[in-house]
Amino acid sequence: ARKVLFDTDPGCDDAVMLAAALGHNAIDVVGLTTVCGNSTVENTTRNARAILELGGYDVPVARGCARPLVDELATAEWVHGEGGIRGDMPYPSGDVGDEHAADVIVRQARKHGDDLTIAAVGPLPNLAFALAKEPDLPEIVDRIYVMGGAALSSGNVTPVAEANFHNDPAAASRVVQDAFPRMVGLDVTNDATIPFERIESYAERGGVFETIAEWARYPTDAVDVDETGPSIHDAAVLADIVDPDVLDFEEYYCEIDTTGGPSHGSVVCDQHGVYEEEPNAAVAVDIDVERYREIVDDGLSAYAAH
Ligand code: BDR
Ligand code: CA
Repeated sequence: ARKVLFDTDPGCDDAVMLAAALGHNAIDVVGLTTVCGNSTVENTTRNARAILELGGYDVPVARGCARPLVDELATAEWVHGEGGIRGDMPYPSGDVGDEHAADVIVRQARKHGDDLTIAAVGPLPNLAFALAKEPDLPEIVDRIYVMGGAALSSGNVTPVAEANFHNDPAAASRVVQDAFPRMVGLDVTNDATIPFERIESYAERGGVFETIAEWARYPTDAVDVDETGPSIHDAAVLADIVDPDVLDFEEYYCEIDTTGGPSHGSVVCDQHGVYEEEPNAAVAVDIDVERYREIVDDGLSAYAAH
């Protein structure tokens, strides 16, 4: 199984993704690091622990950044639910340790080396700090995925910017400059939907699946949702870690706009090579939606049966 560390801000799509990752037999989750984003870092950390508790998994959790590097914190409880998540959750008592997420990322990278994949599916200050502490991080680990950006299409929080990058453009810029990420953005994640009928069949299965169904329905009463079903953005990353044929990537030179104007937080993707710069990111451009759904289903079923 592939060793993966998830840097995450659960968050309902994060929750579906994490449950599927914990369950899937091709994935060995070595740790969760948390970050502010969909809610405060107190809430996302509590939610991460609740997702583990609900499935009966024992995985270390480390709390990370409580705010973006430069910008003000903007959370999205109106989409993800009060406290940053929906559904009936068990909240474990106690707390996580004192080691910061950025230190955990560096420590796990050194420990597992090129056996480790890092998957960052929230705003990126933890990863930016980890890169500042250990600039060789991209060479040490196998791959670094980020869910973020809308390199070739329109945004979801502004006409051009996606939420994770818009939340912390400075951090996203650092990561794109230094880490040659696999950038999995709205260009493919908008299509990473779970059909409404399938979500209803989850709900009918009862038990843990009722909670999973509530996570999966998350945006329906907040924003306009694709007629096929809600997009579970973060799970597109998981699916490609399980099966690298799920996403197609093209390498481009990208910059993140940090200038504070109307395109703040957007990806400037040099698709036609006008800057004559070497590529610095692998941009996801296509998704095998059926295979993606199959992987998420397999993982969720195993999580619920655990
Ligand atoms: C991303 O932003 C968050 O709301 C989701 O969890 C996902 O990581 C989608 O733009
Ligand atoms: Ca997320």
